[in-house]
This record gives sequence, C-alpha cells and structure tokens, in this order.
Amino acid sequence: MAELVPVQPFDMVVFGATGDLARRKILPALFHRWCDGQIPQTSRILAAAREEMSTPEFLERAREFINGSARKDAWDAFCKQVSYTAVDAAGVSPGWTELKAALAPEAGKVRIFYLALPPSIYGSVCAAIGAHGLNTPGSRIVLEKPIGHDFHSARSINEAVGAVFGEDAIFRIDHYLGKETVQNLLVLRFANMLFEPVWNAAGVDHVQITVAETLGAGTRAAYYDRAGALRDMVQNHLLQLLCLVAMEPPASLEGDAVRAEKLKVLRALRLVSPGAASASVVRGQYGPGVIGQDRVAGYGEEVGEATRTETFVALRADIDNWRWAGAPFYLRTGKRMAQRRSEIVIQFKPVPHDLIRADAGLLQPNRLVIRLQPDEGVKLMLMTKDPGPGGMRLRYVPLNLSYADAFAAGYPDAYERLLMAVVRGNLGLFMRRDEVESAWRWTDAVVAAWREAGLALHPYPAGTDGPPQALQLMARDGREWYDSHDR
Ligand code: BG6
Repeated sequence: MAELVPVQPFDMVVFGATGDLARRKILPALFHRWCDGQIPQTSRILAAAREEMSTPEFLERAREFINGSARKDAWDAFCKQVSYTAVDAAGVSPGWTELKAALAPEAGKVRIFYLALPPSIYGSVCAAIGAHGLNTPGSRIVLEKPIGHDFHSARSINEAVGAVFGEDAIFRIDHYLGKETVQNLLVLRFANMLFEPVWNAAGVDHVQITVAETLGAGTRAAYYDRAGALRDMVQNHLLQLLCLVAMEPPASLEGDAVRAEKLKVLRALRLVSPGAASASVVRGQYGPGVIGQDRVAGYGEEVGEATRTETFVALRADIDNWRWAGAPFYLRTGKRMAQRRSEIVIQFKPVPHDLIRADAGLLQPNRLVIRLQPDEGVKLMLMTKDPGPGGMRLRYVPLNLSYADAFAAGYPDAYERLLMAVVRGNLGLFMRRDEVESAWRWTDAVVAAWREAGLALHPYPAGTDGPPQALQLMARDGREWYDSHDR
C-alpha cells in the first residue's frame, strides 16, 4: 500500500450522527483512518443529532458498527477526539450555542460540516450554520446524495446551499467515485497507451455497465419507494461510471479538469424521447424469490403495499459526440438480483478481416471487463491459438488481473478516501453543481418519456438477472449482456 500522508488537523461536525449513514459509514471510516495514523491528534469529531444523550452514550452506540476485531485501546483513544452535542440542525436549539463554543476558531484547522441528513433540510441547515456565524472562511460542507429528486428540486437545494457556501467549499458525495476500482478507471485509461487509440466508436462496438445488488429495499423502503432504481442508482453512480469511461482525456487530474470533461459527456447524452422509450428503457420490480439459500419477499410485501416503483432498470444511452456516435452504452441496475456484481464491459469491434480458416473456431472480438466489486479486477479477453499440432484452432481466453492476488494489502473503503479528500480540499472526487443538474435533466427526460409512453413495469423473481425484457433490449440491437458469472 502507498505511504500514508497525514491530513491537516480538522474539526468535523457530523449532523445526523445517530443515523444509519453516520454510524455505518462515516464514523467507522474516520476510525480506520485514525488507526492508520492519518488523522492528527488535534482533530475533533463533533457528532450532532436531535436526540438528547451524553457523549459516552453516543460512543457506546457508535461502537456497534466498528469492526469487532478493532483493539479496544485504539477505540478508546479515538473516542477522546469525539464529542456529542444534541442539536436540532434545521431549527432553533440551545445546541447551536454549544457547537459554536466548541468550534472556537483555531488557526490552521480545517472546518467541515457533514450533512448526513435528508436533502430536504440541507437548505435550512446551511442557513442555520450561516446564521450562527459558523461558516468561517475556508469552512467546507459535505452533502450526501440524492441532491433532490429531479432537476428543479436539485437546483433549489444547490441554490440554498450556495447562498451560504461557495461552490469550492461544497463536496457532493457520490461514494462510487471513492471506490478504488473506479479511480483505477482513470489509471487504466490514461496511464496505458494500449487502449486509448481504440477507445472510441471506431474500435468499440458498445459498452455495458451493470450494477447488480442482492439487497432489497430493506430499512430504506420509505425513501426508496419514492426514488426507484433510476433515481437512486442511475442518475448518480451509473452516470458517473459512464462519464469516466466516455470522457475525453483531461489535461490533469486536478479537480475541475476531470469534472469539466465529465460534464461534457453528460451534456452530450441524448435525451430519451417518448417515442424511443419503449425500445430503449426497461423497468422491472422484484417479486418473491430465492437468493442463495434464502427465500425473500417481493417488493410489494417489503414496502407494505403494491406500488409501481421500479427496482430494476435497463436502458440504452447514446452519447452524441464525435468519439461515441454509433457506440451505445447499455446501463443496467437492480435490487434482489442473482449476485452482487458491478462491472463495466468494453466490447471491442471484430478485426476487419478474418484470415484464419472458418473451421478453426469462432473468431471473437476482444472484450475488456472491469470488475468493480466484488472480486475486483480487470480481464481482457483475447483470441489465442489453441496449442498443439494439426492445424490452427482458436481459443478465446482471459488475461486476468485479480486485485486480491496482485495487491494483497487490500485497500480502504470509499468513505475513507472521500473523507480524507474533503480535508485535503480535493474537489475532483466530488460532483460539481452543474454535473448534478445535468444528470437530473437527462434523468427527468427518461422519467417523462416512460410516463408518456406508459411503459410497463415487468415483474422478475428475486434472485434472477431481472426481467427477460432486458435481454430483448440488447437482442433488438443484435447484442447480448455479458454476464461474467455464467461464462
Ligand atoms: C446507494 C444507494 O447510493 O448505493 C443504495 O442509495 C445502494 O440503494 C448503494 O444499495 C450501493 O452501494 P455499493 O457501494 O454497495 O455498491
């Protein structure tokens, strides 16, 4: 693992500290970075939420999600840097005075506000931070997705936050950008000479991006039922992956250089029209089924009523620019699928001339499979000669790089990288306002198109790869999904 460079000392106020996100992700991530010596001893984590409780009570609860193998003395030492304040983040509350006193300015310290809260109150929390004079110059704010549920709500959230914090101080998280394998996409593309000359519609037939989960809506049903797979996953994670695959080489990896290139891709995405919706979008919802050994309930039973929210979506996205015209991107994501699996497949075109005898086996075009999770790795499918005398036979074989084998040390969770990037002020791993709004514009067009076209909601049994209509989406174009688990 690369050498760890400690970050500057910081004070981080985590609003919504008793919520799921803070307890499952943020605190464990901070603890792990602390254990690795990346967080200076003078840094402080100020947990804040509405519930009245003492700091020891808060810490006792927070411990639940800390890896059981963590040493008790390490946890106790980390806890000395954590305090809890009861505060109504969006309202009037004596807790604000306490926070203000705790946050007395200290030279050279970075101040961060993390809103692990519902986006509907981002604006009022920012206003309260401003009204209490806590947004000192250089203060940063971290926002979780979803930023709104459509273009207009995203814009009004962005405006309310922007009234208090400058764009350079706003860190909008898409945790996929913090994943090691997602960052590796940049290295794979731009630190190797091999791919870039054919990384375009002349060399690539199409791209597939699949993010399949085995989880259901679970405890987040109330949120999920209003969002659905398109808003929950495609608008952010899948579009960010699409951007990293499709963008032009940025001049550097500095924050705005990458973000500017991603924005150009989002702006070049063709808006789905009602006429095109039935051929290019498939919506599905899981019914009861079996995953592994477990029988699981259908979506309706899980959320307590029959709704028309999609838990699966597959669609064809066209990027209308010079590089990608004619090479579509197929996106697919769903809950309660057969396997947890996120991967990007770059399907190259066939060679222009088949000089090998036709009876020697099928000459297949190269395929690059970038496996994001689990079993992270990169696989390049190549044609080779089947060894042995007696003629020329072909075999399609993988050139395989398994991360687990190559990098035994493992690597940190996405949140660990993102939190340290906030302290460092590295905006490149976060979404800029115009990116988020552009992604919503395209997403809104998909929703409007499927509403107008009256698109069906296809059932699929939990534990499968989604409704069969998703296969037809590809078959209509003479293509098929590449499922590494069954080949
Ligand atoms: C979140 C979505 O952003 O990403 C969840 O809201 C989803 O519905 C999760 O389960 C997937 O993240 P990961 O890192 O497990 O792929």
